[in-house]
Amino acid sequence: MKTTISQLKNHIDETVTIGAWLSNKRSSGKIAFLQLRDGTGFVQGVVVKAEVEESLWTTAKGMTQETSMYVTGKVQSDERSQTGVELVVTDITVLHEAVDYPITPKEHGTEFLMDHRHLWLRSKRQHAIMKVRNEIIHSMYEFFHNNEFIKVDPPILTGSSAEGTTTLFHTKYFDEDAYLSQSGQLYMEAAAMALGKVFSFGPTFRAEKSKTRRHLIEFWMIEPEMAFVEHEESLQIQEQFVSHVVQSVLERCQLELSILGRDVSKLEKVKAPFPRISYDDAITLLKEKGFDDIEWGEDFGAPHETAIAESYEQPVFITNYPKEIKAFYMKPHPERDDVVLCADLIAPEGYGEIIGGSQRIDDLDLMKARYEEHGLTDDAYRWYLELRQYGSVPHSGFGLGLERTVAWITGAEHVRETIPFPRLLNRLYP
Ligand code: 4AD
Ligand code: MG
Repeated sequence: MKTTISQLKNHIDETVTIGAWLSNKRSSGKIAFLQLRDGTGFVQGVVVKAEVEESLWTTAKGMTQETSMYVTGKVQSDERSQTGVELVVTDITVLHEAVDYPITPKEHGTEFLMDHRHLWLRSKRQHAIMKVRNEIIHSMYEFFHNNEFIKVDPPILTGSSAEGTTTLFHTKYFDEDAYLSQSGQLYMEAAAMALGKVFSFGPTFRAEKSKTRRHLIEFWMIEPEMAFVEHEESLQIQEQFVSHVVQSVLERCQLELSILGRDVSKLEKVKAPFPRISYDDAITLLKEKGFDDIEWGEDFGAPHETAIAESYEQPVFITNYPKEIKAFYMKPHPERDDVVLCADLIAPEGYGEIIGGSQRIDDLDLMKARYEEHGLTDDAYRWYLELRQYGSVPHSGFGLGLERTVAWITGAEHVRETIPFPRLLNRLYP
């Protein structure tokens, strides 16, 4: 019977066949241990010389790393293995012999691994990260589905910019100018006026010349937008959303988290509600911690975010930033016109900002004034203004960066490991 490694535990004492690759091998004169992988998981195959035909022994003993095959064997329960089973091999059909696979079990440098990303993805650690990424996406959809959000897909090619014009990727759109989307938000606001509570999930692009462990040029963002939802309610939805995602991964990716050596006790504490600190108080806190380089009105850098996050065990919302350092569409604070109704959610353990969100300006005249201030005279922005012209309502939304969230939950040091084919400054290959 043909099956997969993930299903072996349901076939104890049965003889089954799996398609697999050899990820590693140990052998003595009498017994060979084949580390097999098939995408669904990893399992050890055991070949005992005295119990198999000569030709099978020769095949097993000479097999090279990443050779592909069909393996037949009897499934045995094995308490010591992570998957709880091993396969006592009775037959192997080699499909393709891999010669000189470049990624050996020894240590390799980062650039070498990045150049071989198309193969590096096969390794146990990368496999575990991709499985967690998949579960994060799954639990995000689950949360929004359970809460009656509608999935809406904004365009990738756009004529306008949501997050400022400095980091746009430009392309020609026949005779017009077009840009790769930095954020679907403006379109999601239009969608919220049609469908109430909506969310998008898609690639976004930023031509940022940043070379940090948190920056990608192409990254995936989930962007909910909600009509009739004000700032405070939006924060509550965000903390419930993030708690749901973290708790789902803890429940469904135990094996992957253990392969990654993640300290799950830290993740177990991630439950709504999350602490909040205003931008004003965050400045005071930083000064107390000895940061002399930051003044009110300046944006936080990674060291500042890390220092603020260190005061908490949960993710923390930093609220009400100065209007000057935030996007044009954010609604002013009702009692102060120098700060806006926004919040960034900062992950613990130095992973930085994972969410940026705000209540949006819903007043037509105020939005017109912002257009003037920001020079948004281009016809490409006309439609966005019209959303405030016909039945405008209070609304809020946010964007969660998937890769930063995966990095935090998996404990990966750098976002380059959290996306299958990272696009980084100076890297478009593979
Ligand atoms: O804070 P940002 O720029 O917010 C927006 O784009 C809003 N329009 C979202 C909205 O309200 N709908 O980006 C949102 C998140 C950040 O918190 C961060 O997690 C991630 O996107 N992000 C990046 N991730 C990887 N590499 C980059 N260069 C990123 N830039 C932002
Ligand atoms: Mg931001």
